[in-house]
Amino acid sequence: MILDGKIAANFFSESLSKEVAEFERVHKLKPHLAALMVGKSGPSETYVAAKMEACKKIGFQSSLFRFEESISEEELLGEIEKLNSDPSIHGFIVQLPLPSHISVDRIIESVKPEKDVDGFHPINLGKMAKGQPAFASATPWGIIKLLKYYNIDTEGKHVVVLGRSQIVGLPMSLLLSRNSNPGNATVTICHSKTKNIKDLAIQADILVAALGIPEFVTSDFVKQGAVVIDVGISRIKDETKKSGFRLVGDVDYMNVAPKCAAITPVPGGVGPMTIIALMENTLMAAKNQMNRN
Ligand code: GUN
Repeated sequence: MILDGKIAANFFSESLSKEVAEFERVHKLKPHLAALMVGKSGPSETYVAAKMEACKKIGFQSSLFRFEESISEEELLGEIEKLNSDPSIHGFIVQLPLPSHISVDRIIESVKPEKDVDGFHPINLGKMAKGQPAFASATPWGIIKLLKYYNIDTEGKHVVVLGRSQIVGLPMSLLLSRNSNPGNATVTICHSKTKNIKDLAIQADILVAALGIPEFVTSDFVKQGAVVIDVGISRIKDETKKSGFRLVGDVDYMNVAPKCAAITPVPGGVGPMTIIALMENTLMAAKNQMNRN
């Protein structure tokens, strides 16, 4: 079975649209998401454009603030402060990666947790780890929604997560091991220092590949009948394409797919669900801010 993120995202966007329309009817304004973007990188341009497009489709107001690659950390912190204190913006994201002269941690920690709809702030990560209401990191939260949509049972399953990043691998492992549904899985996290990754991966009932290494997961990593979630998305050279590249995930899809009970394609798997999770977080942020005022 193909876990089609576009179909699932369409389903969730319909119910979100209704909720957003109701929000607008009650509050006489739309939930408002802003994105900050530093420099110009092809992939970030594509992701941010998709986020802005989703806002339009679902009925959110959106704003995009662009800055030169040369912006200083202090200047960027100043821009974040403006959005933190602007009551017309309910949630915002700083698109990553950032240029190397800017500390990602400092930037993430400067976003007001109530507006941190990417769920990257330590307060949100910590609350999520404790099972308290919080904005969960958009990609893992989107994967949870995808598993739910396709009725993939995780209880008691062995999940192997490849990658321990703060924005995917770590929150993914927390969400799948906590006492909820989806959740209640036994989770193994693998990373660059793990010995025998293949021996661990092949034990997985559900394998989440989030390493950022194109086509790293080959068929000998995957147990027959496993569920494979591919978080990777990389551009690799392809002279046969007009653009000169094609998109591939962390999984060697052609060879792995025949072994799987279910697998996400790239593109069109996890990506659209990340956007839905971001929209859901933004609506939640807007509702919370309205209730407080
Ligand atoms: N870069 C890659 N994925 C993400 C994401 O989910 N949010 C942000 N802000 N930047 C990213």
